[in-house]
Amino acid sequence: HKTHKIAVIPGDGIGTEVTPEGVLALKAAAQRFGIDLTFEDFDFASCDYYLTHGQMLPDDWKTTLSRFDAIFFGAVGIPDKVPDHISLWGSLLQFRREFDQYINLRPCRLMPGIKSPLADRQPGDIDFYVVRENTEGEYSSIGGKIFEGTERETVMQETVMTRTGIDRVLKYAFELARKRPRGKLTSATKSNGISITMPYWDERVKAMHASYPEIDVDQFHIDILTANFVLHPDWFDVVVASNLFGDILSDLGPACTGTIGVAPSANINPEGTFPSLFEPVHGSAPDIAGQGIANPIGQIWCGAMMLDHLGHEDAGKAILDAIESVLAKADPSVLTPDLKGQGTTRDLAQAIIDAI
Ligand code: NAD
Ligand code: IPM
Ligand code: MN
Repeated sequence: HKTHKIAVIPGDGIGTEVTPEGVLALKAAAQRFGIDLTFEDFDFASCDYYLTHGQMLPDDWKTTLSRFDAIFFGAVGIPDKVPDHISLWGSLLQFRREFDQYINLRPCRLMPGIKSPLADRQPGDIDFYVVRENTEGEYSSIGGKIFEGTERETVMQETVMTRTGIDRVLKYAFELARKRPRGKLTSATKSNGISITMPYWDERVKAMHASYPEIDVDQFHIDILTANFVLHPDWFDVVVASNLFGDILSDLGPACTGTIGVAPSANINPEGTFPSLFEPVHGSAPDIAGQGIANPIGQIWCGAMMLDHLGHEDAGKAILDAIESVLAKADPSVLTPDLKGQGTTRDLAQAIIDAI
């Protein structure tokens, strides 16, 4: 049967601590289910690489990574060494754009054994997906600075939304909603204030809804939507949003489930023309890097999403079941500090690997 070639890019900070644990979990699942996975490590897309080479990626990165079936990615950024817009625009954002990974799928689920910071919330009350547009919107490189160095200094950066770009992410979100028991879709916009792009997005939602009449659709302005994430997380099932709004919602959602350390994401090129990329929602966490206490669950769950994507849903589910069984035990000697425990990255990862 087929061998899946995985490119591993740990990046910076805790990315280098959680990625190896994610690989070990993948190896355990691959062994159990008889899946052939091969891994190759890359040191580019890190700030150390930048400091040596003057760029985040080698010139031939696209050819190199195109040979792989998927990319398993940690996190990038050491803001004290390299400005974030240089390290991120030079790496992760290039991957998303150049590999046309236009879906950023980010599950948000309150797991058994975890106490939500929202009062009285139980597993089942928070269980939704953020489907984030991942290649355009507010993350555009169109803009500039004029009258530089004068009192009139002016900066502009355009939001770019295309009909194709919006329709393809909406279609993905509607299809996902159709597979969910509740079949509900929420769209995040800000059409009262952002008067051209956001009403256009709303218009495309309405047009697409005509093809999915069975889906229950609602729309909120992003400001009240963030409030409702906290007040009524049980209202949400599939939430579709522009690049920036999706970014914000996908930190807020997981924070409501206890810690952003558990949250995974899949940057998907659904056509399979290019490899998809799997990375936790969190960043390189410079404040805790080097201490061995980062929560590895976001990264390990990414491995489950990657296996799903490669057609091994049974193995993906086994990883998720293992994560849930370890969390359900709520053993403070195993849980990392963000989960109110005293365990290390290694302790928590090993407990999950044992469960796999
Ligand atoms: P961050 O996600 O790195 O950290 C935010 C807070 O959450 C910190 O207090 C951190 O300790 C905590 N945290 C994050 N992941 C954790 C984990 N697995 N276990 C326990 N605690 C965890 O966000 P930030 O501080 O805004 O950014 C730090 C750097 O990471 C910046 O350079 C930023 O640009 C970059 N970043 C990269 C990515 C990415 O590569 N995908 C994502 C977000 C931020
Ligand atoms: C994420 C991150 C990135 C984003 C940053 C690091 C550019 O926050 O993946 O959520 O904004 O997309
Ligand atoms: Mn983010």
